[in-house]
Amino acid sequence: MLLVLGRRVSLSFVKRVIPQDPVLLSKPILQNFRTIKFRVIHSSTVFAIATRQNTDTMPERRPFVRLPTDVYPVNYGLCLKPDLIDFTFEGKLEAIVEVNLATNQIVMNCADIDIITASFVPEGGEGEGEILLAFFSYSLEINATGFNYQNEDEKVTLSFPSALQKGSGTLKIDFVGELNDKMKGFYRSKYATPAGEIRYAAVTQFEATDARRAFPCWDEPAIKATFDISLIVPKDRVALSNMNVIDRKPHPEDDSLLEVKFATTPIMSTYLVAFVIGEYDFVEGQSSDGVTVRVYTPTGKAEQGKFALEVAVKTLPFYNDYFNVPYPLPKIDLIAIADFAAGAMENWGLVTYRETALLIDPKNSCSSSRQWVALVVGHELAHQWFGNLVTMEWWTHLWLNEGFASWIEYLCVDHCFPDYDIWTQFVSADYTRALDLDALDNSHPIEVYVNVREVSLSDECKPRTVDLWDCLEQASGKPIALVMSSWTKQMGFPIIVVDQEQQGDDRILKISQKKFCASGPHNGEDCPNWMVPISICTGEDPGCTKLKVLLDSPETTITINSVSPDQWVKINPGTVGFYRIQYSSAMLESLLPGIRDLTLLPVDRLGLQNDLFSLSRAGMISTVEVLKLMEAFVNEPNYTVWSDLSCNLGVLSSLLSHTDFHEEIQEFIRDLFTPIGLKLGWECKQGEGHLDALLRGLVLGKLGKAGHKPTLEEARRRFKDHVEGKQILSADLRSPVYLTVLKHGDSATLDTMLKLHKQADMQEEKNRIERVLGAISAPDLIQKVLTFALSEDVRPQDTVSVIGGVAGSSKHGRKAAWKFVKDNWEELHNRYQGGFLISRLIKLSVDGFAIDKMAAEVKSFFESHHAPAAERTVQQCCENILLNAAWLKRDADDIHQYLLKRKAPPV
Ligand code: BES
Ligand code: ZN
Repeated sequence: MLLVLGRRVSLSFVKRVIPQDPVLLSKPILQNFRTIKFRVIHSSTVFAIATRQNTDTMPERRPFVRLPTDVYPVNYGLCLKPDLIDFTFEGKLEAIVEVNLATNQIVMNCADIDIITASFVPEGGEGEGEILLAFFSYSLEINATGFNYQNEDEKVTLSFPSALQKGSGTLKIDFVGELNDKMKGFYRSKYATPAGEIRYAAVTQFEATDARRAFPCWDEPAIKATFDISLIVPKDRVALSNMNVIDRKPHPEDDSLLEVKFATTPIMSTYLVAFVIGEYDFVEGQSSDGVTVRVYTPTGKAEQGKFALEVAVKTLPFYNDYFNVPYPLPKIDLIAIADFAAGAMENWGLVTYRETALLIDPKNSCSSSRQWVALVVGHELAHQWFGNLVTMEWWTHLWLNEGFASWIEYLCVDHCFPDYDIWTQFVSADYTRALDLDALDNSHPIEVYVNVREVSLSDECKPRTVDLWDCLEQASGKPIALVMSSWTKQMGFPIIVVDQEQQGDDRILKISQKKFCASGPHNGEDCPNWMVPISICTGEDPGCTKLKVLLDSPETTITINSVSPDQWVKINPGTVGFYRIQYSSAMLESLLPGIRDLTLLPVDRLGLQNDLFSLSRAGMISTVEVLKLMEAFVNEPNYTVWSDLSCNLGVLSSLLSHTDFHEEIQEFIRDLFTPIGLKLGWECKQGEGHLDALLRGLVLGKLGKAGHKPTLEEARRRFKDHVEGKQILSADLRSPVYLTVLKHGDSATLDTMLKLHKQADMQEEKNRIERVLGAISAPDLIQKVLTFALSEDVRPQDTVSVIGGVAGSSKHGRKAAWKFVKDNWEELHNRYQGGFLISRLIKLSVDGFAIDKMAAEVKSFFESHHAPAAERTVQQCCENILLNAAWLKRDADDIHQYLLKRKAPPV
C-alpha cells in the first residue's frame, strides 16, 4: 500500500526486517542489529541483502536483464545545463570507468536522452594524446561509432571501433534531454513568484529508475560510484545538489550564467543523486553534531521552514547516536518542491519533499500537518543511514529500506514530540492497515525469491534470512530463527481463537490458531501454522503481562494461576503481536466494562475494536456485535482510539450507502459522537495539547458530515464569518467546517470553496479544500468537482485525492468517479505512467464498490487498459469489492434491524 497523502509504501512488513546473508564484513551500523553482517562491494560500499517483492512501488517494467558488468563506473564527472525556458538540458558526462573484460561495447541505462558524441580515453591516454596531438596529430581517444538505443529496456549500447582494454579509462558523453512534466527524472516544476509570475524550477526524482532520464548511467542500486557534479544555471537562481558548493564562477561564454561546482560525493547509488535549480529562500541551523541543516522554501516563505528545521536539527544527533555512525556529509538540505509525485525522497544531502510534507505556517497549519511533517522528516533522515549509507542490493529488497524507515520515523517523533503519543497512532495507522492488507489472498509472503540471475555484481548474493535470526538469537538467547521463519516464509498471519474456563483459583485458556483471511478463517486441510508468541494480561494489572507462551501447535491449553473469577483476561496487551483474536462471547463480554471504565489501555481498546471489526468483515461474527461494542466507547477520551473507530465506521457507512437505510447509520454515528462533541465544544481550552486539537477536528467533522444539526449550524455560522473575513477559522477547525458545509451545501457553497482554493497561498490549504470537495451531494456539482480535479488549478499529484474524495463520499460520487477515471483513462495514465499515483488512483476509485459485478467490470477494464505498475492493486481491489459484496449480503438485514430496534421505544 503506497499510502502517499494518506501514506506510504507497502508496509505490511514493518514488523519484519530481514537483512540477509552475504557476509564479508561485520559492521555495527545499527545498535539493534549490531551483528548483522553486510557485504562489501567495491570500495567502501556496504550492502544489506534481504528479500521481499514490493511490486506495488516498482515502476512498470518488462522482464529485464541487468546491466553487464564488464565495464563499471568509479566516478561520474557530470555537468548539466538546464534551460528553464525551453525545458531542455545539455549534459556532459566524463565518467571514470573500470574495464573488467576487454570489450568494444558499453551498455548503460539511458532513457529520453539523445547522445551527441561519445568517446573513450584509456587511462593516461589523454595526456599522452595531447603531446602526440601536438607533434603527430594523433590521439588515443576512441570515438564511439554507434549508439544503439534499446528504448524499451531504457538502455543504450555504445559501440567502439576497437576493443577497450582491461583497465581504467574515461568515458565521455555529450547529450541533450528534456525537462519533462512527468515528475520523474530531471523535470520541471511550476511555481508563481510572489508577484504572480509563472516560472519553472528544474528538479529531480530518480528513485527507482529515473536517473537514466537525466544522464546515461549504470542505474542500478548496487552499482555505486562517486559523483562530481557541476550545474550551469542563471545567476539569479539557487543551484543545489547532494554536496556543498566548492566553486562558483561566471560561465566563460555567457555572463548571465554561473557554473556551480559541488564537492565529490561519497560512493553512492544513482537513485540518490539530486539537483535543484530554482528560486528559494531558506532557514539554516546547525545540529549539535556539526552538520549544517537548511530548509529551503518558496521565496518569501522562509518562516514556514522553521518547524522542519527544528525537527531535523533534533533528529540528526538522535540518529547519530542510535546508529552509532555519524552523518557523513557536511550539510543536509531539505527542500519543498511544488510538483512532486511521492511524499518525499531521501536523496543524500538534498532531501526533496512535497510542500505539504515540509512547510508549516505558525497560523495556518493544522496539528495533523505538523505531525505529518515531523514523521516525514524523521523518515527521510533515517534513510540517510538506512538506504543511503547501507543500500539494498536490488529493488526486490526495497521493503527493507522502507520498512525500517517507516518504523523508525515513529521512534524519532516520539523522541521529538513525546506529547503526540505517536506509538498509539502507529498501531492505528500502520499496524492495523498492515493486518488488513496481509489478510488478502492477493497479498504476498515477505520472502519471495526473485530470480534475477543475470551475470551481475550481485551474482554472488545468496540471500539467507537466517543470518539475521542467528544474530538476534545470540543477542536474546531466544529461539528467534525457529519463530521467525514461520512468519517470513508464509503469507499472512493467524487468527487466535480463545475460550476460557475457571477452575478454582486458576483460569484455563483454550487457544487455537488458523490462518486469518479477509474472507474468513482458512478451513482447508493444509492450514499453515505459525510460532506465535502470546502474552496475556488480566484485569488485576491491565498494563502488565502476566504470562507469556509460545504457541507452536494448532491448539493448546494454558493455565493462569490465581485469577479470581471476576477478572477479565486479555491476549496481546499493547497490541504488539501480529495476529487477530477471536474471544468467546463470555470473554468478550467480560472485557466490555474495561472499555467503558477505561481500565483497558488505549491501544488495547483500539485493538479489540479493530479486531472485531475485521472479524465482522470476514463473516466470523455479526457486524451487530461490532456496533454494540462501539457503543461501549461512550466515555472514550483518547484521540487515536476514536480515530480508528471513526475510520471503521466510515468503512461501514460507505458499505451501507449501497442500501436504503444509510440514514440510520448516520444517526448511529451522530449518537455515538454527540457526547464527546459536547464535551470538547468548538473552542480550544486552556492547557489543551496536540491530541485534543486532533480529537476536536475529528469529532466535529464526523458529526457535521453525519448531519448533526447543532454542528451543522455552528459550522455554517463559522464558515460565513471566515469567508467574510470577520473571524478567520483556526487551522484545526478548517477541515471539519469545510467538510460539513460542503456535505450539506449547494452550488454557492462549492463556488465559495473554489474561490477560497484559488486565493489560498499555502499548498496545505489548497489540499485541505481539494480533499473535501467530493463531499458535495448534487450530481451536477460532483461532476464539476471531477472536472476541477483535472484542471490547471490542481497540482498533478493532487488530482488523485480530489477524485478519491468524490469516490469516497457518496453512492453517486463512487459511480461518477469511476466513470470519470474510465473516461479520462488515457490522460490519467499518461500523467502518472508507471508511478505509484496510478495505483493510488485506482484504489481510491474502486475499493468502495460492494457489488459482485463491479469486480468483474474493474477486472475487465484493466484487462483492456493495461497498468502494469498497478497490477497487484487491481487484484486487491477486485478482492475487496467481492468481500464488500459478501459482507453486505450477509449482514445488511441484521444491521438494519439493530439500527431500527435501537431507536424503538422500549416495550
Ligand atoms: N524513498 C521513498 C519514496 C519512493 C519510494 C520514491 C519508491 C520512489 C519509489 C521515501 O523515503 C518515502 O518513503 N516517501 C514516503 C513518505 C514517507 C514519510 C512515508 C512517500 O512518498 O509516501
Ligand atoms: Zn522511505
